[in-house]
This record gives sequence, C-alpha cells and structure tokens, in this order.
Amino acid sequence: MPASVIVGMQWGDEGKGRFVDVLAKEHSMVVRYQGGHNAGHTLVVDGETFVLQLVPSGVLYDAVTPVIGNGVVVDPIVLLAEIDRIEAAGIDCSRLQLAANAHLVLSYHQQLDALFEELRGESAIGTTLRGIGPAYADKSARDGVRVQDLLVPDAFRERVTHALLSKNVLLRGLGRDPIDPDSVVETYLGEIADRIRPYVTDTVATVNDALEAEQQVLFEGAQATFLDLDHGTYPFVTSSNPIAGAATVGAGVGPRHFGRIIGVAKAYVTRVGAGPFVTELDGPLADHIIDTGHEYGSNTGRRRRVGWFDVVQARQAVRLNSVTEVAVAKIDVLTGLDEVRICTHYELDGVRLRYPPALQTEMERVQPVYVTMPGWGAGDALPQEAMDFLARIQEEVELPVTFASVGPERGAEVRFDDGVAA
Ligand code: GDP
Ligand code: IMO
Ligand code: MG
Repeated sequence: MPASVIVGMQWGDEGKGRFVDVLAKEHSMVVRYQGGHNAGHTLVVDGETFVLQLVPSGVLYDAVTPVIGNGVVVDPIVLLAEIDRIEAAGIDCSRLQLAANAHLVLSYHQQLDALFEELRGESAIGTTLRGIGPAYADKSARDGVRVQDLLVPDAFRERVTHALLSKNVLLRGLGRDPIDPDSVVETYLGEIADRIRPYVTDTVATVNDALEAEQQVLFEGAQATFLDLDHGTYPFVTSSNPIAGAATVGAGVGPRHFGRIIGVAKAYVTRVGAGPFVTELDGPLADHIIDTGHEYGSNTGRRRRVGWFDVVQARQAVRLNSVTEVAVAKIDVLTGLDEVRICTHYELDGVRLRYPPALQTEMERVQPVYVTMPGWGAGDALPQEAMDFLARIQEEVELPVTFASVGPERGAEVRFDDGVAA
C-alpha cells in the first residue's frame, strides 16, 4: 500500500523529522496533516541544521513534493520566513503545495493563546504560544479563516471582522484593548497574500492522484500520540490529532491506502510543558541526559523534562496508531551510564498494568515498574548492551525495531530490515 505515516509515540520531539529525512528519498511526496508551527523538526545534513516548523521534512530532496494538507493550521508569515530560510540554503521551495482549505493562524490567535495561558494561572498548559489552540478552536466554532480567503480580499476582511466580534466582547469584558480588524486585514493582504498565492492548490487532488498512481506517499506527523486532543493526557495536550488515523482527515484520503506506520520513540522520554509523566527523572541523572541530549525545545528553547523509556506508553501508542514498526532515536545519549532502565508496567493499588488506566485520577497515582539493564560505553555505534536494550524494547512492544539513531546527522542511523536480532 502506498501510504505510510511517521508518528511520534511519546510527547513530541522524538526525532520524527530526522526519520522523515531518512525515508523521504524512498517516497515521491511528504505530507503534513495536522499541527502548525508549534512543531520543530530538526534535520542535520552536511553540517547544516534545518529546523522545520511548517514545511514538510521531505523538502530537502528535489524529487519529493512537499504538501501542507488541509488539517494543518498555517501562519502565513511564519511559512514565508521558513521558505526564505530554506531557499537561502539553496533549496528550491517552488514545489511546495499548500491546501486551500487549511486554516490560518493569525496574529490574534497568538495574542489569545497568551491570554488564555495567563488566565489559567497555576494550571497553565505550557503551550508554545504560537496560537495553535485558538486557531483550531475557531475552526471548530466555524469562525476560522482559511488559506483560500487570503486570495479574496473581501472574503478575508469579512471573515476576520466576523471572527473578532466575539473575541472583542471577551477582551472588553476583561478590560483589555479590543483588536482592530482593519489593522489585521492590512497586515496580511498585499505582499503576504501575494506571496502565498502560488503555493495554494487542491492538495486533495494532488495526494489522491499520487496514491492512485501507486506513488509512495509519506505522511509526517507533528506533535505526538500523548499530545493528541482525544487520546493524550488531556488537558495537557495540543489542539489537533497527531495520531496516524488523522492523516486521512488532515489530507483528504481514505484509510484503504495506509500500510506502513512507523512509530518514533526516543530511547528515553521527554516532555515540554505541563502534565503527568510517570517515569520522570530529576536530579543529576536528569541534568546529564538533558545536557547530553541537548534537550531544549527546537521550537521554543524550553528545557525539556526527561524520564526513562516507558513501554506502557509505547504499547498504548501502538494501539492508537496501528504502529507496524518502531524507530528508536538518540541511543547515543544514554552512552556512559552504568545502567539503564525501561518501565515495563505501571502498578496501581498493587495491580500491574500493561496499558495506561482509563481515568486521569488513576494515571496520577500509578507507579512505574522498571527492569534495569547494564549500560554501555563509547566505542561501537551500537555495542552489544545497546542492542540488548533495543531488543528488550522490541520484545516488550511486540513489533520490530527497524531503525536506531546514534547521532543527529543524516546517516547516523542503523537500519534493521527484519528488526533487531534478539
Ligand atoms: P521531532 O520534533 O520529532 O522532529 O524532533 P526534534 O527535532 O524536535 O527533536 C529531536 C532532537 O534530537 C533534534 O535536536 C535532533 O537533531 C536530535 N536528534 C535526532 N536524532 C538524534 C540521535 O540519534 N542522537 C542525538 N544525539 N540527537 C538526535
Ligand atoms: P514536534 O512536532 C513537543 C506541546 C507544548 C504544550 C502542548 C500544547 O516538534 O514534536 P500547543 O502550542 O500545541 O497548544 O501546546 O503541546 N507541544 C509540543 N511538544 N513537540 C512538539 O512538536 C510540540 N507541539 C506542541 O509544549 O505542552
Ligand atoms: Mg520537535
């Protein structure tokens, strides 16, 4: 089947971008299906680092058509700046296709993201403040403004003016300055709209035509399974559905095309922002992993939280995405530890659980059950102990581990076509 998905199995930043880069050359199209510029996907190629937020990670290959699907929320200013950065590095972006139906993230979404976080006070989510939540909320409320509206000035003015009515009632009620629709409209119409226009297409036709012609199409997930609006650790989630099934809605294709679902996980777990984290570490070991793995957000620069690999979470991710194979990133970061741990079960009131409990109140009470394994030293990219660690993950999730990466650069990954030999 011609459609494959790369999806994060944890809380984001697993290394999805780098594995998209590995697999893109075997595909003719790479499609983003959800999220927005809350994503930061890092590719390191020939010593040059690209952090992509909206442009699909296949863009570095001339033969790949990068597509931003209808399920993505697009800040046009950010998109154009990103295109400029990529083109400055000598890579042509004229092949990029942008869904006419994708919703826009506009300046007021960003303002409201900050306001809502402020109002949440102690219970703030720790969003990326990119306006993603308010943009998806407007989409659901039928107050959204779409990419195609940018191309029709009267429609854009009408949509923005309408969207701001309820927002300004709220702002005035809080004693804040209302937002002037005319200034928003002026910001985007003109140069920005003109520059966006050439990329706007019927991406449903593009993607379906490719699939019908049996071309290989790779869907690039952003965020991750446990940031999913429905299946993540609500309310500490993002406002879209990163899980693999959402590629159908977010690109306009039916489920019959999908075959290969590559779940990406780090060799440990990280999380930016608030919310439950069963295997979280603190103290010197956490500091060591953060320093060694450079665990600061590629998007917002925030220090990530870290913990041991969580198989309970991984098993749930396998279910939620129909994962067919697992790619494990950043094995090198654990090099030099005397021992490493994997959480194989949760314990709740003396009962061992293989999957997360249904209730969040229970989730907050579970204790991790670990197996401890010997660590490994520097030397070979994947010493025997590191292979044993991968084999144990493979055994616990009951799926082949087909990739392991040992450095951020393109090429610093090992491929196991039939899974890791036990
Ligand atoms: P994404 O959002 O899932 O695409 O991941 P990010 O790019 O946000 O975060 C992954 C970070 O780890 C980036 O800084 C990558 O360059 C880096 N990285 C990816 N794979 C490896 C690896 O195998 N080893 C090391 N040391 N770094 C890696
Ligand atoms: P990639 O694609 C890691 C997190 C934020 C916050 C929560 C909600 O690079 O893996 P939002 O701005 O989406 O409303 O924030 O989701 N978050 C991410 N964490 N990687 C990401 O993307 C993320 N995108 C959002 O930190 O906790
Ligand atoms: Mg990231």
